[in-house]
Amino acid sequence: MSKYNVIPVSVDDYRLKAKKRLPNFLFDYIEGGANAEETLGLNTAEFRNFKLKQFVMRDVSKVDTSTTMLGEKCSMPLALAPIGMAGLFARRGEVQAAKAANKVDVPFTLSTVGVCSVEEVYNATHKPFWFQLYMLRDRDFVLEMLDRAQKNGCTTLIFTVDLPLPGLRLRDYRNGMLGGGLKGKISQAAQLATRPWWLYDIGIKGKPHTLGNLMHKVNSANDLDKYKAFVESQFDPSATWDDIAWLRKHWHGNILIKGIMEPDDARATINAGANGIVVSNHGGRQLDGTSSTISKLPAIAKAVGGQAEIYLDGGIRNGIDVVKAVALGAKGVLIGRPWVYAMAAQGEDGVNKLLTLFHHEIAAAMGLMGVNHIDEITSDLIDY
Ligand SMILES: Cc1cc2nc3c(=O)[nH]c(=O)nc-3n(C[C@H](O)[C@H](O)[C@H](O)COP(=O)(O)O)c2cc1C
Repeated sequence: MSKYNVIPVSVDDYRLKAKKRLPNFLFDYIEGGANAEETLGLNTAEFRNFKLKQFVMRDVSKVDTSTTMLGEKCSMPLALAPIGMAGLFARRGEVQAAKAANKVDVPFTLSTVGVCSVEEVYNATHKPFWFQLYMLRDRDFVLEMLDRAQKNGCTTLIFTVDLPLPGLRLRDYRNGMLGGGLKGKISQAAQLATRPWWLYDIGIKGKPHTLGNLMHKVNSANDLDKYKAFVESQFDPSATWDDIAWLRKHWHGNILIKGIMEPDDARATINAGANGIVVSNHGGRQLDGTSSTISKLPAIAKAVGGQAEIYLDGGIRNGIDVVKAVALGAKGVLIGRPWVYAMAAQGEDGVNKLLTLFHHEIAAAMGLMGVNHIDEITSDLIDY
């Protein structure tokens, strides 16, 4: 059987299916990281540095993966991370993913640069979700976005702070997605010609491809040059901790700061009034050469554990990784590429099945470690 035709039971199975469906430049846009992609590789590999302890004979007949994240009940300690332009990977992708997350009872996060707007997601789901913000120079427009998000059911604001400027993702240049001019456009057209299904299902039926939350600010999601020009002209590199205090005044729900990698920054975040942090290096897409997120988690948990909720993303590829992150001090995790692969492969149904798989893996690992509840997963279960 071809490796593309298997019944998907892992993130990598969905990844291969996504590769078959998407034009190369879009697949690489998801898959890739910054520069030499060292950090990208470390994020997944370094989960293996932590081993779990197997305990037996402890009555694990009542394993329960449910928990709360920022006061919200969830079926497991996992949320969908914000992914820009997800509507290019499946037709109205953000809506499909939000529906799948709702079915399984985990939070979905909509990116500032999603194809679908907060209004479109809310009108399709009528359920609360999380909204991710990049700080823009135009603060009045930021206020307008926050207002729209709050009016459309967003409970938690994830403020991403690790993108004051775009990371150098070489695959996007190599594939003609960035900076290639006419030659790049011809290369993209050639790649598109090999994926007629994408052209019909998403290229035509999935329109409009505008960035819904930014409306008039930047009008095309599938022209990465325009998007990059927007990032460079509008993303505000002068943002500081004071902006968190400013956000606090205007956002009535929880605020999570995403992109924290150092204990000092974690402390500063809490002092600035956030409810929690996401230990994240943007999935290895920003500063290459930085450490993996899982290797940083213990020190950050030591610095701010108990004062704020700590989340982690980067490299989570199965339920066992989730359990390791929780044991090392995370209240929960976010997954990025895994849900995009599943969605590109099989739409809402794919994301739903992937989340069910994570759920089973977490439950199985808990039972085999001898615990019934998420709050029993502590560092005592890590075999140092
Ligand atoms: C294709 C792609 C687009 C992303 N877009 C955003 C975004 O718009 N906002 C954001 O805060 N993070 C964004 N991220 C980072 C993710 O939210 C998350 O931090 C990262 O994917 C986690 O690593 P993982 O992919 O290994 O799970 C993006 C990541 C990918 C792969």
